[in-house]
Amino acid sequence: MTTQSLIIDCDPGVDDAVALMLAFGSARLELLAVTTVGGNVPLKKTTRNALMLRQIAGREDIQVRPGADRPLRRKPAGASEFHGEEGLGYLPPFTPDRGIADGHGVDAIIDNVMSRPEGSVALAILGPMTNLAHALRKEPMIQKRLGPVAVMGGARSEGGNITPSAEFNIWADPEAADEVLRSACPVVMFGLDVTHQVRATDARIARLAALGTARGDTAAAMMRFSQDVEKRIVGWDAPPLHDPCPVAWLMNPDLFTLKPCRIAVEVQSELTRGHTAVEFRVDPETAPHRWATGVQADGVFDLIAESCA
Ligand code: BDR
Ligand code: CA
Repeated sequence: MTTQSLIIDCDPGVDDAVALMLAFGSARLELLAVTTVGGNVPLKKTTRNALMLRQIAGREDIQVRPGADRPLRRKPAGASEFHGEEGLGYLPPFTPDRGIADGHGVDAIIDNVMSRPEGSVALAILGPMTNLAHALRKEPMIQKRLGPVAVMGGARSEGGNITPSAEFNIWADPEAADEVLRSACPVVMFGLDVTHQVRATDARIARLAALGTARGDTAAAMMRFSQDVEKRIVGWDAPPLHDPCPVAWLMNPDLFTLKPCRIAVEVQSELTRGHTAVEFRVDPETAPHRWATGVQADGVFDLIAESCA
């Protein structure tokens, strides 16, 4: 089995929490750092949540470094209606035993990418793309040195989840997404078109709870909270599992179908702010981006179960 070196940039968040459990428990990944960003809840909470989840998973060896507390130009947004006031649903907050590592999250990205072999460090972005945008401004060389940049964000055929045309992560900081997508970073996007195919059904949640582990219990609790929220707000019985998708792809690319494309982000109009315009009429050899269109959802849940066992 080959191991992929990875930084996870996130805003936990109930589905970020499942993605972290997936990565914390996997021998397929070498997790170099977790960086946090303000998004679903403010940065102080996303950082504390990352530390809590790290402790629950027994992975205090992994650095957590806070990044940007606000988008490049917009006011901080927030999605506590989908994640709870504290960000982790029904999980009561506690003060983690161990704190953050020294240094800013943006420097964690730059330092790891610059000091390791070219193309070897992947980045999974599970929140607004603010930290990578800052990193590109500070050290443009990283765009040529980064491995895959696997992003949960955007929507095409599914329409939006925060506005009719935009997905939350891109809408929250459209200028950051725009800067990243205009750079030479090899972006692979996992938008709502694919994350809506990965549903936390009762049977899938029960399988994780039955593992009898802290990781399994935590992942199941996150999904139960999402289930209750999505039932109330959207009317869905089985909530979509967004953020685990890019991490699962890095663990087993065969689970996903990707299409070469060029992605642009709307930054002018307020009505369609953060819309992702995905152009498939491109030369597949030179296309700058890839867009996920399909997934074997059972395979993603198998990976989550493997990591939580
Ligand atoms: C994305 O928005 C956030 O609320 C979730 O954590 C996920 O990253 C889904 O649109
Ligand atoms: Ca997220």
